[in-house]
Amino acid sequence: MIGIIGAMAVEVEALKSKMQNASAKTVSNIEFTCGLLSGKEVVVAQCGIGKVFAAICAQTMILEFGIDTLINTGVAGTLTKELSVCDVAISCCTVQHDMDTSPIGDPVGLISGINVIKLPASEKLAKLAEESVREVGLNCKIGCIASGDQFIAAKEQKEKIISCFGAIACEMEGAAIGHVAYVNKVDYVVIRAISDSADGEAEMDYPTFVKKAAESSAKITLSLVSKL
Ligand code: ADE
Repeated sequence: MIGIIGAMAVEVEALKSKMQNASAKTVSNIEFTCGLLSGKEVVVAQCGIGKVFAAICAQTMILEFGIDTLINTGVAGTLTKELSVCDVAISCCTVQHDMDTSPIGDPVGLISGINVIKLPASEKLAKLAEESVREVGLNCKIGCIASGDQFIAAKEQKEKIISCFGAIACEMEGAAIGHVAYVNKVDYVVIRAISDSADGEAEMDYPTFVKKAAESSAKITLSLVSKL
């Protein structure tokens, strides 16, 4: 069973509309839609924005729906010149850029308890997602995706995340899903189409491109599911 999580409606609607034999169940105020996508059994959910909602959703998918593969689809701000608006970032790992116990001696980003900074994503899923991106004719890069409970829209914030983690894109859920996947030993990948520059420079980027980017990430996710 494959779990697919998007934070916003625009990130999951295209997938839900293509499902067959769909049935819905609400748990913890999140609606989970079970059914078939490309003949594969999936559960799709809109988790809401931020790391806590994403973690609730991912853990529920594992415990209630028995998923063994997690895909996070959506949009992100770019952290590299190699990714422009509508290009695609794919995770080799994720990091929680707002996790910081450095005043008590830890490296920035360390998740105490599991002692991990970068949460490894599935290499196999990342490679298949990369193939899917090439098939739809878009540019992509595999790298570290940084998540935190902040919309990044200032140069200093952006530079800090790049210099601390060498991340290629920033968003608000992927590493929470990565954290849940890590502790439950479930494979995961984050697929994010770029919606904005994450520096406030082109402030109109996000509202202009969020729909287009979210839909192309959903299209890549659909193609990836067909390969599993
Ligand atoms: N999602 C899309 N763009 C983002 C940004 N700049 N910061 C955080 N999350 C995002």
